[in-house]
Amino acid sequence: GLVSSTPLLVEARAQGYGIVAFNVHTLEMLQAVVEAAESCRAPVIIQTTVGTVKHLGMDYIVAAAQVAARRASVPIALHLDHCQDLTLIQQCIEAGYTSVMIDASKLQFEDNVERTKEVVAYASRRGVNVEAELGKIGGVEDDIVVSDADAMLAVPEECEQFLALTGVPTLAPAIGTAHGIYKGEPNIDFKRIEQIASRVAVPLVLHGGSGIPADQVRRCVALGMAKMNVATELKNAFSLAIQQFFAEHPEELDPRQYMVPAKEAVKRMAIDKINLCGSAGRA
Ligand code: 13P
Ligand code: ZN
Ligand code: NA
Repeated sequence: GLVSSTPLLVEARAQGYGIVAFNVHTLEMLQAVVEAAESCRAPVIIQTTVGTVKHLGMDYIVAAAQVAARRASVPIALHLDHCQDLTLIQQCIEAGYTSVMIDASKLQFEDNVERTKEVVAYASRRGVNVEAELGKIGGVEDDIVVSDADAMLAVPEECEQFLALTGVPTLAPAIGTAHGIYKGEPNIDFKRIEQIASRVAVPLVLHGGSGIPADQVRRCVALGMAKMNVATELKNAFSLAIQQFFAEHPEELDPRQYMVPAKEAVKRMAIDKINLCGSAGRA
């Protein structure tokens, strides 16, 4: 069955590799990610945003992920990405999610601590992983929009304090990456990652994984980023494959035809990201 991501990520940080968390929006995307993980022998995290929970229904998502986990021979966790709503977090945990993100990053530090503590208390009793965010990660993820001007890097001292106050098992510090594809290159503060990692022993989470140059991803992982989120590149690969299919076969309206190249494109992209983060062969 589905497993908590905590032990997977603790092991990843200890061994210096990264586990990729893929945002999926359809059954075929979920299947493609799991096939990629299987073929790489990699632990993997399937994640959905709040928008996707609303789009597909949390029970459908959990059911599909549970089937995948039952059939798979690699560990699979199901994670709720960027959730600001405590009720929805509790409902997802009840439904079977094995990991949740409480995104209270737009609140004041003390309020972020309080929210996160509440979620940790609820989740840890149920063996569910929790991820919190410090600083503000830029870009657009569903209806969470953070402009460049509002984006804010995490402060290393605050990360340490936050961990001591909340006991949260995984932390996503803003270190210069952003959601979506970058105009140019991201401006990653590697020194800051190093400072945070030296103060905080828990696995760190790299958001905004799409569009980061390969060598920079490897540096982040080597510094302690044990989970990398990938949403936009996977979504684009899926949709562009369908777009291309219709450009070539405008008369072919059978979903079982156009989903084949879409699934293949997602699988290829997922294999690339898994190899990049070094989690292949770890399961
Ligand atoms: P990208 O869309 O840049 O891959 O960001 C993914 C992410 O951080 C999801 O939480
Ligand atoms: Zn994110
Ligand atoms: Na990105």
